[in-house]
Amino acid sequence: MSKKQVRIGMVGYKFMGKAHSHAFRDIPFFFDTEVVPVLQAIAGRDEQGVKQAAEKMGWASYETDWRRLIERDDIDVIDIVTPNNTHAEIAIAAAKAGKHIICEKPLALTLEQSLEMLDAVKKAGVVHMICHNYRFAPAVQFAKQLIAQGRLGKIYHIRATFLQDWLMDPDFPLIWRLKKQISGSGTLGDIGAHIIDLARFLVGEFSEVVGMMETFIKKRPLGDMDIHLKGRVESDKWGEVDVDDATAFLARFENGALGVFEATRFSRGNRAGNRFEINGERGSIRWDMENMNNLQVYLEDDERGLQGFRTINCTEVEHPYASAYWPAGHIIGYEHTFINLLVEMMNGIANGYSPVPNFEDGVRNQAVLEAVERSVQTGKWVKVSELLQSTQLQVN
Ligand SMILES: NC(=O)c1ccc[n+]([C@@H]2O[C@H](COP(=O)([O-])OP(=O)(O)OC[C@H]3O[C@@H](n4cnc5c(N)ncnc54)[C@H](O)[C@@H]3O)[C@@H](O)[C@H]2O)c1
Repeated sequence: MSKKQVRIGMVGYKFMGKAHSHAFRDIPFFFDTEVVPVLQAIAGRDEQGVKQAAEKMGWASYETDWRRLIERDDIDVIDIVTPNNTHAEIAIAAAKAGKHIICEKPLALTLEQSLEMLDAVKKAGVVHMICHNYRFAPAVQFAKQLIAQGRLGKIYHIRATFLQDWLMDPDFPLIWRLKKQISGSGTLGDIGAHIIDLARFLVGEFSEVVGMMETFIKKRPLGDMDIHLKGRVESDKWGEVDVDDATAFLARFENGALGVFEATRFSRGNRAGNRFEINGERGSIRWDMENMNNLQVYLEDDERGLQGFRTINCTEVEHPYASAYWPAGHIIGYEHTFINLLVEMMNGIANGYSPVPNFEDGVRNQAVLEAVERSVQTGKWVKVSELLQSTQLQVN
């Protein structure tokens, strides 16, 4: 008997559009899910561009307005892979039309807006997820298992970084990620949001934060960039950068752990230094996205003299998601994190629940982002729970 099809409608088709298209195509190849995604339609504003993208990435049809995609009754899921300022409008309209939603991070421009999105999906009763894909590296999922089993004991520390260097050229153009109106924040919301999600996933909820931010280069020429982060100046006009180039912050967690976080695009030599170390009373773990199959684990219970960080290549059948792919030692990559996440989305749709991370995680992440920004403005610690409570809408 053929499986039930879940018809996807994707808005946007560049960097994340490519990652999501590939992942949807690979799900039935690697996984035996109850329902299978079908690449039904994509939407983009430029007809020639969207038509070409549909052909190249294997979509059956295209639209030049995302609203038309939402109106179509042959679409079950709206996948939002557009800049941050569009997420709320598209997600709320999609929820009202009864579509399930997968939305890229950060969920919204502000905490208030993210709460409106959560409210909309809850009222509509649709399945919703946010694309924090790094959780879905098998090594990160295995780290979560070790922590949940108590192998590290009580957690004392997390130190996490997301370090990049593609923005250091002063002539790199003023792309949408550098405009607050479109992006909400700079490095903080773009890559800081990912390490906040990893910390929430592995350590727990944030209690309070204190941060600092800097914009090192305040004016840039107008232009765009490609998916390889190569800039293209398109005008002799210049505009103002009104978001952070770098953000660092300290955090306390509700369970008493301490966190040190740094997100920057001015860290020469670091292309995607998404790394964390977690220290507990009985052990420690380390992960580095640029070497993402490996988890380094130290266990205090090891025999003295043999103690030390061991490197576990998380490709064995015992490791989460690994058995869907290749024999042990045959590594997987960045794109597989999206496949694993969207497999969970298919499981959620088949069984009527919203897998984590969902819009509630998006709201909690947004609360941390907003707390860091407020702390930078006031120079004081900001309590994340008070921020959430001060909003009109409730998370739970
Ligand atoms: N999960 C991750 O690791 C990850 C990585 C990169 C980006 N992102 C997120 O994904 C989203 C998209 O980022 P990207 O890097 O793919 O951006 P991008 O600039 O490469 O692509 C954006 C796409 O959206 C389209 N678009 C813009 N405004 C639109 C509108 N009003 N209607 C229809 N289409 C519109 C553009 O034409 C383009 O196709 C952002 O929210 C970003 O934060 C997530």
